[in-house]
Amino acid sequence: MRILITGGAGYIGSHTLVEVLKAGHAAHVVDNLDNASPVALARVKQLANRDFGFTRADIRDAGAMAALVAETRPEAVIHFAGLKAVGESVADPLGYFDNNVGGSLALLRALRAADCRRFVFSSSATVYGDPDYLPIDESHPRRTTNPYGRSKLQIEGILEDLAASDPSWSIALLRYFNPVGAHASGRIGEDPTGVPNNLMPFIAQVAVGRRPALNVFGTDYPTPDGTGVRDYIHVSDLARAHLAAVDWTAGRAGEGETGVGETGVGETGRGCAAFNLGTGQGTSVLEMARAFGAASGREIAVNLAPRRPGDVAACYADAGRAAVELGWRAELGLAEMCASTWHWQSQNPGGYPDEGAEGAA
Ligand code: NAD
Ligand code: WQD
Repeated sequence: MRILITGGAGYIGSHTLVEVLKAGHAAHVVDNLDNASPVALARVKQLANRDFGFTRADIRDAGAMAALVAETRPEAVIHFAGLKAVGESVADPLGYFDNNVGGSLALLRALRAADCRRFVFSSSATVYGDPDYLPIDESHPRRTTNPYGRSKLQIEGILEDLAASDPSWSIALLRYFNPVGAHASGRIGEDPTGVPNNLMPFIAQVAVGRRPALNVFGTDYPTPDGTGVRDYIHVSDLARAHLAAVDWTAGRAGEGETGVGETGVGETGRGCAAFNLGTGQGTSVLEMARAFGAASGREIAVNLAPRRPGDVAACYADAGRAAVELGWRAELGLAEMCASTWHWQSQNPGGYPDEGAEGAA
């Protein structure tokens, strides 16, 4: 199958690209490389031992998207491209809505014009806000507290309305919990610029000696050890889930075990349905620091610090719907998440090298 992958040079996109190629699909990546390195694409090519197309373009560029879709004729799209830093979105909401919502609209218009109506979207558990109950299932009310999260909610709404307006669409909203880890080879991984906002890359940089200690944001939460609890999911498990979701979009209304989409189910498409992607297991900040210490053989120094504004105490998934309807479940645990992150970080202590050092895709 021909699959267009937006944001395919980024963290989750590059890991998914490996799996898509390994499964024998023909892939084309579009990415503006604003938050990614071309070295990631070169390494994916080596890992999969398969070639793929790449267009450096911004998905907001309607002309470029129309030309790309006409040229590559995708049968399905996996849409990762977007900005994802919560704090940055608070400082620049217009930039976030423009990029994430505007980019998605331009892409969807090009796809509709070319009759490509199978779409897998990178959503986030951030759409649940501060949860009313745990584990969180897909029926949990949606709300959010920051422009990044609102951009995800708005795109989900656009996709639901689109599926309701035209029954030939099949749209999977994949709500990721906390993606971590790296490809088992250690060749590709998460490479944040500047000081990492997220826990796992920060711990990895402490382990490798780039930062002195982990600041543990909050020790008085109503959790077993007082620190925040999250549902960390291995990026390679997440990558496989995208293949399962692409397969799901090929189904017809009426097929499947527990029914089809939530909205817009029609004669040919599956409508629009949301799937939580997590392990269902909660892990605290201190548990993660200990697990990483064990995987790396390095002690992770910690400073106990005040809560980070906007954080919730605990968030973990009920991923049952993905198991039943996508036939997917997470297989890798905390030990593999930490070991693979350490493998990547210790082999690439400064992240991806400059393009000149290895060449681009
Ligand atoms: P990432 O920044 O590594 O990847 C996003 C990619 O999109 C980058 O390569 C970037 O250059 C590209 N991009 C951004 N805007 C673009 C545009 N306008 N045109 C073309 N390319 C553009 O992020 P990631 O962690 O791989 O996340 C991928 C998707 O998953 C994002 O939509 C993100 O919101 C979502 N998500 C991520 C997490 C997480 O914790 N990493 C959690 C939930 C959801
Ligand atoms: C996890 C836990 C922190 C850093 C964010 C986004 C969310 C989604 C995933 C995209 C929390 C604690 C962290 C540190 C710490 N992204 N922590 N010290 O906040 O659950 O989710 O990424 O959709 O939208 O909000 O992930 O990794 O930042 O934090 O103690 O230096 O680690 O307080 O309890 P979060 P995180």
